[in-house]
Amino acid sequence: MPRIGIELNNVCNLDCTHCFRSIYRGGAENNKDLFLPPELLDKILTEGKPLGYDHIAITGGEPPMHPRFGECLDIIAKHGLTYHFLTNARNFQKTLKAISVPNRKAKLAGISFSLDGATEATHDKIRGKGSYKEVVTAVAMCQAVGIEPSLITTINKANRHEIDQFALLGSHLKVRRQVFGHQNPTEHNMGEDLILPLNEWRAVERDVARVMSGFRHEITMAVGFYTEYYLPRCAPLMMDDLNIDYKGRLTLCCQLSNYRDAKGDGEDVVGDLKKVSLPQALSNLMELINKVHHERLAMAAIPEQREKLHYPCLVCVDRFSKTSEQPMLVQVAGLKLEAKAAAA
Ligand SMILES: C[S@@+](CC[C@H](N)C(=O)[O-])C[C@H]1O[C@@H](n2cnc3c(N)ncnc32)[C@H](O)[C@@H]1O
Ligand code: SF4
Ligand code: SF4
Repeated sequence: MPRIGIELNNVCNLDCTHCFRSIYRGGAENNKDLFLPPELLDKILTEGKPLGYDHIAITGGEPPMHPRFGECLDIIAKHGLTYHFLTNARNFQKTLKAISVPNRKAKLAGISFSLDGATEATHDKIRGKGSYKEVVTAVAMCQAVGIEPSLITTINKANRHEIDQFALLGSHLKVRRQVFGHQNPTEHNMGEDLILPLNEWRAVERDVARVMSGFRHEITMAVGFYTEYYLPRCAPLMMDDLNIDYKGRLTLCCQLSNYRDAKGDGEDVVGDLKKVSLPQALSNLMELINKVHHERLAMAAIPEQREKLHYPCLVCVDRFSKTSEQPMLVQVAGLKLEAKAAAA
């Protein structure tokens, strides 16, 4: 389903250790430009709908903290589009009230809750005290009122041993869908020793693959896992998934946007939708995507470079200078040496 991802804001009520966003942490007096204006959202949807984009994926920051959150949902519903959003579940009673208005609820396809530990201790260590209970309670509240909840988990050193427990919890909570992904490196989460060494990523993927077939609910692996395809077929590079940041700019991918360590805007920001139309910005995006594919084609021809392409998102993090943390891609070369030594 072609969809437009919207980062509704850049504020948050949590400060998760693993988070790759550069969330505004200042006082309320300076936070005026941190929320996507609903009027701009209206313009973007007016331009996006005729292009076939019929679903809106809302992320942030913490989306329900947008002071005009309900109004934004009204605009999406007015355009006849469906939507879902990601949340950390804090203040969910208030969120539930906002989405229970009939026109808003009619277009709500579901809510994705971020869960970073299958146990309270692990989750709260990453997301802060009280967060685990809030997620579990919010999922139950959704079930009670007929909203489909999903769970989304990024795997790291702290929760890697809990994959089976995550799946059991998902089953117990009767979620429709559960998604696991690798955690992208930032200076902060590397400093906190959260990122698994690359030679453990495949074992994580095998563990996720094992639980995929053992449960009745849908369990999937998010983009960024090991692939034999050197030319990535991810939704952003296929333009099936657009990303608009909280400043109203079209960017290549939500995984790179407003990155915690990035120094200023990167080449992934392709058009300010306050100034240009979505089709104009998409034309810039097409050029960038073309360039990215050409670069990967060139990398695929060089043996040492080719190995990196197994992890397409790490290549993007590096390519778009999102972090100065180099160890992840440096490890790819190491992996090859390890494999050679094992084969010898
Ligand atoms: C940036 S948050 C915004 C929505 C909301 N605040 C939440 O936490 O669900 C969107 C998703 O990105 C995930 N995320 C944060 N940092 C990440 C990282 N370094 N690598 C991969 N995913 C990450 C979060 O865990 C969450 O599931
Ligand atoms: S992961 Fe979500 S909840 Fe956690 S700090 Fe980032 S934006 Fe906030
Ligand atoms: S980071 Fe790059 S490879 Fe990964 S999903 Fe985004 S555009 Fe695709």
